[in-house]
Amino acid sequence: MNYLRNDLVGLKPYKAVEIPYRIKMDANESPYDLPDGVKKQLADELLAGSGLNLYPDSESSNLRESISIYCGVQPENIIVGAGSDELIQVIVNAFIDKGDVVLYPDPSFGMYAIFTSIAGGISVEVPLKEDFSYDMKGFYKAIEQYKPKLIFICTPNNPTGNTVDLDELHELLKNFRGIVVVDEAYGEFCGSSVTEQVIEYPNAVVLKTFSKAMGLAGLRVGYLIGNKELVDQINIVKPPYNVSSFAQRAAQLVLENIDIIRERITVIINERERLYRRLACLDGVHVYPSKTNFLLLRVYDADKVYRKLLKDGILVRNFSGNSRLKDCLRVTVGTAENNDIFLQKLEQVLRGQ
Ligand SMILES: Cc1ncc(COP(=O)(O)O)c(C=O)c1O
Repeated sequence: MNYLRNDLVGLKPYKAVEIPYRIKMDANESPYDLPDGVKKQLADELLAGSGLNLYPDSESSNLRESISIYCGVQPENIIVGAGSDELIQVIVNAFIDKGDVVLYPDPSFGMYAIFTSIAGGISVEVPLKEDFSYDMKGFYKAIEQYKPKLIFICTPNNPTGNTVDLDELHELLKNFRGIVVVDEAYGEFCGSSVTEQVIEYPNAVVLKTFSKAMGLAGLRVGYLIGNKELVDQINIVKPPYNVSSFAQRAAQLVLENIDIIRERITVIINERERLYRRLACLDGVHVYPSKTNFLLLRVYDADKVYRKLLKDGILVRNFSGNSRLKDCLRVTVGTAENNDIFLQKLEQVLRGQ
């Protein structure tokens, strides 16, 4: 018997690839483990009495307090989620009725389409330009034509690595009457953000995550920031107790050690630029500039390069199945050592060895 809602028939469950690897460069995670001091503190606190028999603080109050200091906004402007993935779904569920249109760039982060479908919304993709820069004229045309209820702007964009022009983004926030979600999952690597200004707008939220620069992907912590009135509406949909107490505490301790994280971000950015320069010199590779912790490359035969890298245990993300990303691979910036191993192997593959 098929008990599934009619409109969900045909949707496939999200499958994260489980492939054995030696070096993982496919999911834009941090190459760094938790700082030692954070590990020790978490372990000490667990040994002193875990409290794990009790439900977590449903509103993540202490963590919101720490995020408010880090981001320069009030705790009432913040919602914490089990990764920003959960918050994308919560936002879509809060605002999208069956048949409402959701607009987002193409190519971009895949979960916008998935959660829109699950909510019964209609996805409209606005193609990025040939060089992957944002086509704001295209967005305004699509707004005219499709009257969307919600727009996702991913900046820097995954998987293309580029940012939207900040003035153009503010223009959109001022002019568009629906909701704008600015996804800044990689914001720490690009140096520009609308985090502090977003609360001035009645119709906008910023999405942030602890999974990338903060190195906590395994614990699933993300947050959104917005005007209090909008945040109150989104809170109606947020499930209770959605972030475990351990994850809340770990994220708070990471923010208490933000100097270590900032040093790591600088190292990753320097490595990104080094990797970019090296890749730009290789025949048969077109590398796109990036403001994130990953690089998008176009090669002659992405499937072949992907397979050959994987044979050596190097796992990157293969986008060759996507028509706008034909022959593109996305590579997460790793440690200097792993980046060198990747470069060396890629050079060998390109030489046909
Ligand atoms: C643009 C973007 N937004 C959101 C997410 C979700 O991150 P998380 O759920 O780990 O916070 C990702 C993860 O790759 C992403 O690339």
